[in-house]
Amino acid sequence: MRAWVPLTVALALFAFLLPSRPAAGQGREEKPAAPAIKQDVHFGAGSCASQACHGGSDATRAEYTTWVTKDRHSRAFTVLSSAQGQRIGKRLGIDPTQSDQCLNCHGTVGVEMAETFDMADGVSCEQCHGGAERWLGPHAAPGFKTKSSTEKARLGLTDLSTPAARAALCVTCHVAGPGRDITHAIMAAGHPPLVFEASHFLQSMPPHWKDERDQRAEHWLEGLKASAAASLGHVARMAARTSGIADFSVFDCYACHHPIYSGSVYEKRKPAGKPGDLALELSSLRVLIAAAGLDGIEFANAVAAPGAPSADLERQAKQALETVRTLTLTPNDVSGRMERTLAAIESGERTTTRTELQLWAMGAQALANNKKSDAYATALRSLDEALAADRGFRADACAQLVRALMAAGK
Ligand code: HEC
Ligand code: HEC
Ligand code: HEC
Ligand code: HEC
Repeated sequence: MRAWVPLTVALALFAFLLPSRPAAGQGREEKPAAPAIKQDVHFGAGSCASQACHGGSDATRAEYTTWVTKDRHSRAFTVLSSAQGQRIGKRLGIDPTQSDQCLNCHGTVGVEMAETFDMADGVSCEQCHGGAERWLGPHAAPGFKTKSSTEKARLGLTDLSTPAARAALCVTCHVAGPGRDITHAIMAAGHPPLVFEASHFLQSMPPHWKDERDQRAEHWLEGLKASAAASLGHVARMAARTSGIADFSVFDCYACHHPIYSGSVYEKRKPAGKPGDLALELSSLRVLIAAAGLDGIEFANAVAAPGAPSADLERQAKQALETVRTLTLTPNDVSGRMERTLAAIESGERTTTRTELQLWAMGAQALANNKKSDAYATALRSLDEALAADRGFRADACAQLVRALMAAGK
């Protein structure tokens, strides 16, 4: 698989948080709700593996081969038995290979599975393409390829042809989704943070499809939209679980986990609420609004006052979610708006979060045309270092480095 720096940076960012002892909440088994959508029966990747179907070795009919040999999704279940997976499980007091808390994203949960199905396949074909119950027969018959996506969707084959549809799928595991909410307890037990940018992640996945279109700007914006919607859904579901303060996973991690020192980013942040309020983690929404030139989604700067009723939070998040869902995005002038926003962060005019800067950095890479130059490589290295800095983290300096990366990538 292609080496890709920012994903490792995302992990390095939180390295200083990784626990050295069991975290609070140990032993509590919380059952996530099953995914809301009724899905067709899943048959398992084995049904796709034959050489005549998707298990070929050349460029055609090799989708299974690509997935099983190169794609990390085929190992999503296996990592639950890795040292890191077992450590997380031990801290939570669960067996990760048996618990829906992990299998909801690393395996399959909440759908009917045929006898041929093997959980060890991890994130397999049907997690992305839909349970094969109704399409397995028809899709092998002559003429299927020429059917429209709508006709295929009627048979339960998920339409992944547009950037919006793809992003909507990826975020259900890479951000959050119904029945797929990662909790603060799982994070505190040592789970890597989930930071998603559609263009990068699509490029990092070993492709088993042909796509000649250059839709990076669309992927970047639709990915932000899907991530923003997924984060808002996560806030609403987590708020609905309690009348007290929502699960810490809905807040900006650095609202609590940050060093306090003169000049730290939080001193300058001027959050919207009262001092001591908790900022929600809605960086993707804030970036979306700036990158797409939108306004009017006031919830982007939302905070929760400790002690405020969760019901209010749930209602407001659902309202904002409706607004986000109806947005139509055009990628014109994305770079221009990006540059102006970054300049405003650099000058201190615009407040920001660390995750927001990570998303801007990923956007700059997604949109870069020339990644081969030495100047680009140098700019990327400096940016990675600045983003991963713990005590010395500076939002204005990072914004400047993102702009330098954009210039080098032109
Ligand atoms: C909301 C979906 C979700 C849930 C729930 C979830 N994970 Fe993950 N997990 C992911 C994603 C997505 C990644 C890959 C993150 C990345 O690289 O950007 C991941 C990565 C990991 C990794 C690192 C894998 C590697 O190759 O380095 C481990 C280990 C892991 N998860 C274990 C667990 C365990 C144990 C649980 C249950 C307690 C769990 N996960 C629950 C989505 C989830
Ligand atoms: C993580 C999600 C994911 C998984 C897992 C996955 N796919 Fe896909 N697949 C995609 C996406 C995204 C596309 C591109 C869709 C498009 O262009 O309409 C795609 C496209 C395809 C295509 C169409 C190829 C083309 O060029 O039009 C086939 C066939 C396919 N996948 C088969 C499989 C098989 C077989 C498996 C399991 C071995 C699998 N996929 C696993 C996401 C996934
Ligand atoms: C059913 C849940 C699920 C869905 C849907 C899903 N993923 Fe993943 N993805 C995972 C898990 C879990 C991992 C971690 C696997 C591991 O590290 O072993 C992962 C890992 C990855 C990685 C490797 C990350 C790294 O750190 O190198 C990429 C890239 C990726 N996914 C892209 C995508 C894209 C693009 C889509 C949408 C087309 C998608 N995924 C849809 C669960 C999912
Ligand atoms: C509302 C405050 C708050 C927020 C927001 C918050 N945490 Fe925590 N976190 C805590 C507390 C309190 C602990 C337990 C601290 C301890 O054990 O010393 C903790 C523990 C942890 C630990 C274990 C650290 C250790 O040394 O045991 C990790 C890792 C962690 N959090 C990650 C995150 C991530 C990632 C996020 C964002 C998704 C986040 N936290 C958001 C308050 C918060």
